[in-house]
Amino acid sequence: MHRHGWVRSVRSQKKALFLDVNDGSSLRSLQVVADPGLAHRRLTFGSAVEISGSLEKSLHEKQNVELQATEVLVVGECDPLNFPFKVKERHGLEYIRQFPHLRCKTNTFSSLLRVRSAATSAIHSFFKENGFVHIHTPIITSNDCEGAGEIFHVEHEGRGNKGDQDEPYFFSVPAFLTVSGQLHLEVMAGAFPCVYTFGPTFRAENSQSRRHLAEFYMVEAEISFIRSLEDLMVVMENLFKATTERILAECPHDIELYHKHVAPGHRDSLLSMLKNKFKVITYTEAINILTHSSQSFAFKVEWGNDLQTEHENYLVKHCGNVPVFVINYPYELKPFYARDNSDQPEHTVAAVDLLVPGIGELFGGSLREEQQEMLRARLARAGMEDAYQWYLELRQFGSVPHGGFGMGFERYLQCVLGVHNIKDVIPFPRFSHSCLL
Ligand code: 4AD
Ligand code: MG
Repeated sequence: MHRHGWVRSVRSQKKALFLDVNDGSSLRSLQVVADPGLAHRRLTFGSAVEISGSLEKSLHEKQNVELQATEVLVVGECDPLNFPFKVKERHGLEYIRQFPHLRCKTNTFSSLLRVRSAATSAIHSFFKENGFVHIHTPIITSNDCEGAGEIFHVEHEGRGNKGDQDEPYFFSVPAFLTVSGQLHLEVMAGAFPCVYTFGPTFRAENSQSRRHLAEFYMVEAEISFIRSLEDLMVVMENLFKATTERILAECPHDIELYHKHVAPGHRDSLLSMLKNKFKVITYTEAINILTHSSQSFAFKVEWGNDLQTEHENYLVKHCGNVPVFVINYPYELKPFYARDNSDQPEHTVAAVDLLVPGIGELFGGSLREEQQEMLRARLARAGMEDAYQWYLELRQFGSVPHGGFGMGFERYLQCVLGVHNIKDVIPFPRFSHSCLL
């Protein structure tokens, strides 16, 4: 049989040559036993090898089988002096982050990539098992769904140079990289009761924070025929718990590496999130909790202001370190699509954020304003009525009460693995002033 992979260790003994060869399929390497005559100076930590031999039962308690090699071919050398990773050394996340082109060769990052892959499948399975239809929402779009202006323009490189002054835009209108697939999902929610999308999302956030990226993956769902935030929160909580349980079962060793070496103690915190029902508080209650706290905050706590990370962390701790849904936000804080609760004197919308320990906001969602006149009035006040004519029209042809949410996939991985910095859970992080590779 033939096997290939990268050498993780070489032990040359009198009677035999032992190699640990890893092919990326798991944290564990295959033990290769060869004649000491096959030892070679090119056979070093990190080198790529092709091996022929037979798979035999191993006498060692550490493994069931070993490959008894008849031939060991070094197909790619690895200069041990210049290779940034050293054998048997556990390098920190910050250190390996400096080598985006090589870090997949470390145990820590290869575990992350396997967990990321398993979590992707688990999310698709969750939606499939619950009757959702997967929609490919576009990456290039002419809307700024969140209205926050954190958008990247998409334009043809040579535009404007070739005398096409009459037509300044490639698409005839300004176009952007999507900040959310929500509005496109809402279109589909007019014919399918349950839809979702899972793809890259872009935000020109000038932030170097440990939880923001300029390109990240978002899981978004839209559900029709629902009338309450409770109906939405059930799906959010189930998605979080089902996905996490599945990956804990599927990649126990990869996750254990993080819970043992990267974030000791995190496993208990995660298991308690899975065991307990998530809490629910209103935004107004959240403001009351913060106002009565003895902690002093850098950002002012006042009804109408957005919750900052420091507030989110306080609220999660206050609620016993379990995920907390905060519902019914001030009308002025949320985008035009959020459904008006028509309450007073504190005017709110049916929006919900899920805050989780150590991270803060993981999900954002809302019921959508399906009442045509309310929506028209809100769009008109914002001067957006013309641009969103098509969105208004959705409310005219078989419109239904509906709602949805988005979950940041990298923040989800941070939450499960206990990783402090979001740049350590995505293969190639993009953030302001950094677009390596
Ligand atoms: O709260 P957000 O902005 O919600 C929306 O975009 C809605 N349109 C989603 C919907 O209802 N379909 O973003 C959703 C989540 C956040 O809660 C956060 O976890 C993540 O996306 N997120 C980011 N993750 C990494 N880097 C960034 N810059 C992020 N911005 C948002
Ligand atoms: Mg949000």
